[in-house]
Parts: sequence; structure tokens; C-alpha cells
Amino acid sequence: MLDQLKKRGLALGPQRKDEYVEQLQKIVKKGGSREQQLVEKLLINALIEARSCERFRLLWKEIGDAELSKFYYELMVSEAGHYKNFLKLAKTYMDPELVEKRWREILEQEAAILKNMEVRGDRMH
Ligand SMILES: [Fe+2]
Repeated sequence: MLDQLKKRGLALGPQRKDEYVEQLQKIVKKGGSREQQLVEKLLINALIEARSCERFRLLWKEIGDAELSKFYYELMVSEAGHYKNFLKLAKTYMDPELVEKRWREILEQEAAILKNMEVRGDRMH
């Protein structure tokens, strides 16, 4: 990413709080066993990776610059791998059916969060 910025004479901006990630942290179930807490974290991470993957897919498909398009394609593939790995790992710590059930709940909770978030033009990832 830094190489791509440098090539284009751009600098990395200051890190911002990610409102989406902050909101997601609020749906993490507190308490339970260590395994349950771990599964909660793994699922939230799986979700963040999956959404990154979707954004990179859009960038890959829509961006006019061929070099950046290839770059985003590679990031998309990488994020897809991370998403799958987090989900797979969660299923090694808890009954896969329970993980799937909690995953669907988290997706519903995320949808509710997104409904209340404003669309902003100053970020993509
Ligand atoms: Fe990732």
C-alpha cells in the first residue's frame, strides 16, 4: 500500500477511529467461557475481513487504473482468505452449528448498525 501511495506522490493520512468497527465491538457478547469470548472475537474479525473483501472487489472491478485494479484484486483474494480462516478457526473452538447460528445473528446486528450509519465519501476501507 505504501509503495502504491509513494508512486503516486501521496502520503498516508493519520489513523482515524473506525466508527463501523467501534459499533461492531458493541455487539460482542460479554461473559461466557474463554472459548465463547474467542469465538465472538473471531466472528467480528471474520465480518470485518468479509466487508473489506467486498470493498476491494468493487475497487478491483470499477477502478480505471490497470495496476491498481490488479493490486485491489490481490487484496480482495487475501481478505477472502482471512475471512474464511477466521470462520473456520471459530468452528474449531465451538460446535460449527452454534457458530453458524451466532454468525447469522451478528449479520443481522450488523445490518441494523449499517442502517443507522451515514454514508461518507472520505473513506473506502
Ligand atoms: Fe485482512
